[in-house]
Formats: sequence, C-alpha cells, structure tokens
Amino acid sequence: MRILSGIQPSGALHIGNYFGMMKPAIELQTKGECYYFIADYHSMTSLTDAAERRRHTRENALDFLACGLDPKKSVFFRQSDLPEVTELTWIIGALTPVGLLERAHGYKDKLAKGGAPNFGLFAYPVLMAADILLYDSNLVPVGRDQKQHVEITRDIAIKFNQTYGETFVVPEPDIREEVATVPGTDGQKMSKSYGNTIEIFGDEKAMRKRIMSIVMDSRTPQEPKPDADKNIVIQLLKLVAPNDVAADFANRLRAGGLGYGDLKKAFFEHYWNYFAAARARRAELLANRDYVEQVLRDGAGRARAVAAKVLARARKVSGLGS
Ligand code: ADP
Ligand code: TRP
Repeated sequence: MRILSGIQPSGALHIGNYFGMMKPAIELQTKGECYYFIADYHSMTSLTDAAERRRHTRENALDFLACGLDPKKSVFFRQSDLPEVTELTWIIGALTPVGLLERAHGYKDKLAKGGAPNFGLFAYPVLMAADILLYDSNLVPVGRDQKQHVEITRDIAIKFNQTYGETFVVPEPDIREEVATVPGTDGQKMSKSYGNTIEIFGDEKAMRKRIMSIVMDSRTPQEPKPDADKNIVIQLLKLVAPNDVAADFANRLRAGGLGYGDLKKAFFEHYWNYFAAARARRAELLANRDYVEQVLRDGAGRARAVAAKVLARARKVSGLGS
C-alpha cells in the first residue's frame, strides 16, 4: 500500500497539524510505503516572501523529523524538487471541470471574504491531485479540512481513466474522527492562517501566555458546568493527557469547583511534557546543520524513481511526446 501526504510551509507547525496529519502519518510508517513532502509550491498561493518560504520549508521538515518521521522508513522530500508534478497538473487540469474547482472550499472562502483569488488558488486542488496521483497513492492521511481535496482528486482520476484508459490509482482519504478538527485558542479550527495556534515547538513563555489567555466564559469556579465536554481546553487536554486525567478534569468542571485558570495550567503542563522527547530530538538534529537538506535531497531522488514512471504513463496514454 502506498501512503502519501503533504504539508504547506506557510508557518510554524501546530498541534492541529500534529494530531490531524503528522501523528497518523508517522504511525502509518509501519503499514505501507510512505511518501511525505513539504508542499512549497502550494504555499505560493498564500505566501510571497521567498526567504520565509525557505525558512518554513527547512523548519517544518526538521519538526516532522523530530516528531518521528523516519527517513529510513519513509520517502521525505520537498515538492518543488520534483517539477514533474507541475506537468501532471497541466495534463489532469485539462480534464478538470471549472465547476468542480468553483465548489472548492479554499477558493469559495476567499471569494466570500471579498478577496481576489489568483489562478494558483483556483488550481490548488489540481496541483494537490497531481501530488497524489503522481505516486500511485492508495491512502492519504489528512485532517478533515482536506477531505474535499481528496474527493476532487478521486473525481479527476476517474475522469482521466475513463477518457484515456486505466492510468491512475483512485485514492482514499484517511481521516481520524477523534482528531479530525483540532480547535484553536479562539474556538475556530486551529490554523496557521488564523493566528490561533499552539505550536508544537513554540517558545515556553509565549505558549504559556497564549494558553493562559484562552478566553472562557464568566461563570465562577464554583458553578457546575454541564457543557464541560464542549470546553476548548478540555478538548485540547484530551489530546495530550492520559484518558483518565482528561476525564477527571472534565468531571471536576462539570461538578463545579475547578477554575479555568487551573485547567489551563494543567493543559500547559501536559502539552509541554507531551512534546518533551520530540523537543530534545529536535535540538539534537539541529546540531547537524546539513541533515535536513541531505534527507530532502535523498528523498527527492527516491521520489523521482516513482514519479518518472507514472508521468511517462500519463504522457503516453494521452498522446504526448514521441
Ligand atoms: P493550516 O490550516 O494550519 O495552514 P495545513 O493546511 O498546512 O494547515 O494542513 C496540514 C495538515 O494538517 C492537513 O492534513 C490538515 O488537514 C491538517 N490540519 C491542519 N489544521 C488542523 C486542525 N485544526 N485539526 C486537524 N487537522 C488539521
Ligand atoms: N493541501 C494540503 C494542506 O493544506 C497540503 C497538501 C498538498 C497535501 N498536497 C497534498 C496533502 C497531497 C495531502 C496530499 O494541508
């Protein structure tokens, strides 16, 4: 089984990325042949600072490695090291109905907010489909916000296969329901673009401050809170604390007597400890300055072996080249 996923280098990785995509992706390393990449072409639709893109690419890759992505088990690469994917974007884009892309959430949200979307944002799902199809991927571990993109990929693959004959594997999304959408500090989906994140490797003081300033309601500590399970901090605590600990805090909130400040402090401690080993590993990896670059370069070579074959297949069936 071929497993593939990517992450955009548009900011510091957060615990929504971790629980929604990185952790499942890391666990899948023993279940199949994994291809993971930093989607720097995709980041061009939202970020226009070249130095920032390079920095986030390097740091996101380092973070992923520190969290347990093992380059001996997985092929880990930078999307733009394989420009083949942009050719496949054109090949499949020529069959992609405009209506399908007009229904894509990313594009629709931009329009709804009164923004002027560019061609890259409109074509974003086609590039993502090319990522997935280029590696004959069967399974795509992602958070719920990416489900529609995998469905668009399936539609494109099916249409291409009907038009030119069996060429592409039709992939399935792998979405963990319990962590499908991790809430941010403001209760919306945690996202790099909303400024509501808890970073995996954030600065201790800054993260403590961010967590302690999560806005709660004005009920007194003594008041029973029957809606404890809807509390953002309880939801976040469930991710980083053992089940019985999180359940105990929820019970105390429900019964009354637990203040929000104490709950937030407990969450901070569990969050900080949860990533302690990864933090130490990150510091170790950082000591070898070239390590990340070597891993990505090696990954690109291994990725190319597959990409070249699939691209040649797509070119052949569609009558391109000699
Ligand atoms: P962001 O929204 O922060 O820019 P990305 O779009 O780069 O994050 O997402 C990378 C991966 O992390 C995707 O698989 C996405 O579904 C997942 N992900 C992002 N935010 C969350 C979240 N709040 N909860 C669960 N998964 C998430
Ligand atoms: N669009 C994805 C995101 O924002 C990142 C991504 C790009 C991706 N190409 C992919 C994810 C292919 C899975 C498969 O999270």
